[in-house]
Amino acid sequence: MSSYILITGGAGYIASHTLVELSHAGYDFVVYDNLCNSSSESLKRVEKIIGKSVAFHQGDIRDKESLKALFKTYHIDSVIHFAGLKAVGESVEKPLKYYDNNVSGTIKLLEVMSEYNCKR
Ligand SMILES: NC(=O)c1ccc[n+]([C@@H]2O[C@H](COP(=O)([O-])OP(=O)(O)OC[C@H]3O[C@@H](n4cnc5c(N)ncnc54)[C@H](O)[C@@H]3O)[C@@H](O)[C@H]2O)c1
Repeated sequence: MSSYILITGGAGYIASHTLVELSHAGYDFVVYDNLCNSSSESLKRVEKIIGKSVAFHQGDIRDKESLKALFKTYHIDSVIHFAGLKAVGESVEKPLKYYDNNVSGTIKLLEVMSEYNCKR
């Protein structure tokens, strides 16, 4: 069974560039994003550049059951975690929204990784 890198926030700005580099370097990956600040259009553009389809699952990092389903489907041996909110002004206005998404979300992701013995 081949190994995958899970790319959270994979439809976003930094991650979509990372996908192109990973593909050129020969890695397999699966993208997980709730599309709260992006569009699947960016993945279509990545597909055009790399010349193959991108495995994409729409979901939220705070949804552990959805994350577990992903780990059951793919042999994920590492994660690059880009999913996050990062608007400075809004984070000052709505700090709890940011703690929930970025801190709680990361903890949930780490818990699922730990459950599936994914340490990288
Ligand atoms: N853009 C920069 O210059 C820069 C510089 C340094 C670090 N970063 C960090 O890199 C990361 C990505 O930044 P970006 O500029 O690509 O942002 P972005 O908003 O383009 O990408 C973030 C992606 O995460 C997704 N996302 C957010 N919350 C989610 C959740 N709960 N579940 C699933 N998906 C979720 C969004 O839909 C989006 O596609 C952030 O952590 C950011 O702080 C960005």
